[in-house]
Amino acid sequence: MDEILIKGGRTLRGEVSISGSKNAALPMIAATILTGGQFVFHNVPDLKDIETICQLLVDLGAKAEFSNNTARIDTTGLSHYEASYELVRKMRASVLVLGPLVSRLKRARVSLPGGCAIGARPINMHLEGLQKLGAKIKLEHGYVEAQADRLTGGEIFFDIPTVTGTENLMMAAVAAKGTTVIRNAAREPEIIALADMLNNMGADIRDAGTTVITIHGVSSLQPVTATIIGDRIEAGTYMVAAALTGGKIRLTGADPLHIKPVIHKLREAGVTVGNDDSSITVEGGGPIKSVDIKTLPYPGFPTDMQAQFMVLMSVAGGLSVISESIFENRFIHVSELRRMGADITISGNHAMVKGVGKLSGAPVMATDLRASASLVLAGLVAKNTTRISRIYHLDRGYEAIEKKFAGLGASIKRVPAE
Ligand code: EPZ
Repeated sequence: MDEILIKGGRTLRGEVSISGSKNAALPMIAATILTGGQFVFHNVPDLKDIETICQLLVDLGAKAEFSNNTARIDTTGLSHYEASYELVRKMRASVLVLGPLVSRLKRARVSLPGGCAIGARPINMHLEGLQKLGAKIKLEHGYVEAQADRLTGGEIFFDIPTVTGTENLMMAAVAAKGTTVIRNAAREPEIIALADMLNNMGADIRDAGTTVITIHGVSSLQPVTATIIGDRIEAGTYMVAAALTGGKIRLTGADPLHIKPVIHKLREAGVTVGNDDSSITVEGGGPIKSVDIKTLPYPGFPTDMQAQFMVLMSVAGGLSVISESIFENRFIHVSELRRMGADITISGNHAMVKGVGKLSGAPVMATDLRASASLVLAGLVAKNTTRISRIYHLDRGYEAIEKKFAGLGASIKRVPAE
């Protein structure tokens, strides 16, 4: 297993190209199950999770190839309806095949995703929604079996605006008989991107991106070519890196509108952030003010940026309260940051972060995707050297991270584990 070695203290300057969004690509690739034919996706990030979902489609009988950030998927021969534990265990987002499989093959057998580092992450709302659309659901031996001769439209209400739940049920509803209304739907940009793709396939989805989405079932869908939107969380990660190292970075490939909550909080912390409609420029260098954040469903501050922002608050000038309201266990990075000198106290779902002058490099261990990104950020700003182990977590969601940071002037390299 590789590790990442960072010599901290460099000021990052230059331009970085943000890759396609992992969390937009995954549901869009799952949506190819809905009908037979050849799909082409451009600007697909080269990530482990993309490899996993393409492997899953091949296991279901499709053909998938990926090169130069383009994925070509042929679902003509798709005929199996089981997603194995081996694959689902590797990536919870595999649950996104559930809705499309029931729609296309009238049946699905998907391993229940286990918990993960950041929380139990149940899928009850996915299953209750499918039942509302007429599916029979059975849970046994760690698998969920869903069956429906024909899904019928219905009204779905989410207690919590679940992102993949909204995506799964939007996909299940597109060819259902009648109309489906999803209330308290998630509003993330990735939901709009999926709805745009589905509508281009012939679906009839209205008001994606708002809390009430209406889907009129259609009788046929066609394969399409689509381009993946930029990854707003990768963008936010590089924006924090510019603020942390006192540098100046111009980001291309991400829509500033998608990362507004982070832009707003960086400005509140005294960081200069400018943007036109196709790029974002972040300039650090001045004193960082401590600000409070509370993670919320979009358009609130994204939970996927909580760990990264905590690193910035660790070297700010006062006390910051960070409240994690989406996941019950998303402070795992705190113990590793403490080992680098951060002064953080946890009380329930709140982290009190007292800014310290400097972090110091240390051997640390990645535990989940965004926590590992926060350790890279901490290493960039810490004195001396930081060695990060278990970086396979990083490779799931950040394309060529060490190359991109090295291109901005960081002293960072991937080395074989000691
Ligand atoms: C998506 O996960 C993202 N993953 C996550 O990004 C992101 O952190 C999360 O949304 C929140 O924004 C993808 O899009 C592939 P949820 P998802 O369903 O859909 C509870 C990353 O780092 N819940 O919106 O699984 C759940 O436990 C990943 O890229 C239920 O209780 O998250 C959580 O507390 C990490 N029952 C809350 O809702 C359900 O049936 C929000 O979860 C579904 C969810």
